[in-house]
Amino acid sequence: MSALLEIKNLRVTFPTARGPVDVVKGLSLTLGRERLGIVGESGSGKSMTGRSILRLIRAPGKVTADRLAFDGVDLLKQSEKQMRAIRGARISMVMQDPKFSLNPVMTIGDQIAEALLTHQKLGRADIRGRTLAMLEAVRINDPERVLGLYPHEVSGGMGQRVMIAMMLIPEPDLLIADEPTSALDVSVQAQVLEIIDDLVKRKGMGLILISHDLDLVSAYCDRILVMRSGEVVEECAAGELRNAKHPYTRGLLASIPRLDEDRDELPVLQRDEAST
Ligand SMILES: Nc1ncnc2c1ncn2[C@@H]1O[C@H](COP(=O)(O)OP(=O)(O)OP(=O)(O)O)[C@@H](O)[C@H]1O
Ligand SMILES: [Mg+2]
Repeated sequence: MSALLEIKNLRVTFPTARGPVDVVKGLSLTLGRERLGIVGESGSGKSMTGRSILRLIRAPGKVTADRLAFDGVDLLKQSEKQMRAIRGARISMVMQDPKFSLNPVMTIGDQIAEALLTHQKLGRADIRGRTLAMLEAVRINDPERVLGLYPHEVSGGMGQRVMIAMMLIPEPDLLIADEPTSALDVSVQAQVLEIIDDLVKRKGMGLILISHDLDLVSAYCDRILVMRSGEVVEECAAGELRNAKHPYTRGLLASIPRLDEDRDELPVLQRDEAST
């Protein structure tokens, strides 16, 4: 059986005043129907990696790879029209900033219905029923009312949940989720991750979960890639993250405040009595 996603030597390059800069430098990964976490500091190339899989890097950015294949299909050889058929239906991406992903002039109900209709034929009542069920699943209260709202009329957290509903409703084979729960409070975050997890288990969906939150990825993923300046510096089973060897990963781990650990009191400025 071929892998769901196969990436070899992926490179994302932007021209700058000082010449071309690679923001992803030869990344390789193979993904099965599993949950892969990508962590790394801000600017390490996590989002660029996710977007390049869907060929969503805007010009003048350029994507090259020795291989970029989804379910055996060479993504670099697809026309823009073929890519549109893959996006949403087979590979969905929850973008880091939902403000830029929702259509500002379309109601939330119409956007979700469109996401559903692009890929299958359904009657009005079916669409409405499935849309309402999905909004409820991402814990949106009063979904009937929310269907008629425009994106600017909802909060950031609700916008993020709407995005997640839109991306999950076509039941894709691969979900790329870029900081999908960063605007949500902890209990809603757990519920949303459960819905995603259910699709992984029930449908065998593959998941790439991009996050700053090392605890979150180690709890929800099977395997973790650690990125730094466009490169993978460490790869490990999620349960092994705490024992990571690479100094960079150890640094990331050390910067997480832990509840289960005694922390020293905040240092207090010591005044030298004699000098005051
Ligand atoms: N249009 C652009 N031109 C040049 N460089 C860019 C452009 N867009 C992004 N970059 C650079 O690409 C690098 C990788 O960005 P990316 O968004 O993938 O980081 P990230 O790991 O997702 O960070 P964060 O955790 O903050 O979301 C960054 O250093 C960024 O400055
Ligand atoms: Mg990012």
